[in-house]
Amino acid sequence: MNIIEFVSVSKHYRMGEVNVTALDKVNFSVAEGDFVAITGPSGSGKSTMLNLMGCLDIPSAGEILVLGKSVASMSESELDSLRSRTFGMIFQSFNLVPVLTAQENVGLPLHLQQLSRGEIRQRAMAALQAVGLERFAGFKPDQLSGGQRQRVAIARALACRPKLMLADEPTASLDTENAMALVDLMKKLNTEQGVSFVFSTHDERLLQHVNQVVELHDGILTGLPAAQKVAAPLSLMGARQ
Ligand SMILES: Nc1ncnc2c1ncn2[C@@H]1O[C@H](COP(=O)(O)OP(=O)(O)O)[C@@H](O)[C@H]1O
Ligand SMILES: [Mg+2]
Repeated sequence: MNIIEFVSVSKHYRMGEVNVTALDKVNFSVAEGDFVAITGPSGSGKSTMLNLMGCLDIPSAGEILVLGKSVASMSESELDSLRSRTFGMIFQSFNLVPVLTAQENVGLPLHLQQLSRGEIRQRAMAALQAVGLERFAGFKPDQLSGGQRQRVAIARALACRPKLMLADEPTASLDTENAMALVDLMKKLNTEQGVSFVFSTHDERLLQHVNQVVELHDGILTGLPAAQKVAAPLSLMGARQ
């Protein structure tokens, strides 16, 4: 079963007198184990599409199915559970709490679930280990590099054991080396732990690491021609600290 399915999904925004079509009749699906990049210029609808996938927003037209069920038919509590357990969200700006350590940041969303302190600590450490940062568990965000902070944000999302990680331009605040390392890490979590990913980027250099690429232009979704889909070996770099 697909984790997510978009059936002719459109999103319009009204800006004063002007109607903006951010997404235009998009058909799209994500299956378990997928690793998909959404590319396209600024303003093409990438964030709109990721927000709709994460059930943070509702479409103007069309239907979104999560695990086969129409989002429009779900109650608020079902939607809350999707947002907190089915999806892991990662943002360009990391969104870490500055006064908390890496381990406390990763454990934070787990406090919303009925877990013991011991279990929260254990899950947070396991997630930090998965992103190669267990030695930095006691560090606060300002003691970490940008690349490390984004990996803490990935660990925080992972700790909730989501079915699908949604990442909106996760590499946009990183230099090229850290951006590549982050894509490598996401790919590793995908192949070794089976975590599905959809992430947006407008950085062409990252796309050579991805074998499923779709492109947005003015809200219209297209797949890149097969010739441009390059599945490069992930030999460039290991996890960097
Ligand atoms: N809340 C909003 N109100 C009005 N227009 C919006 C809003 N969010 C996005 N848009 C418009 O929708 C289009 C797509 O935006 P967005 O999804 O943010 O694109 P991207 O993430 O690719 O840069 C743009 O024209 C943008 O100005
Ligand atoms: Mg955006």
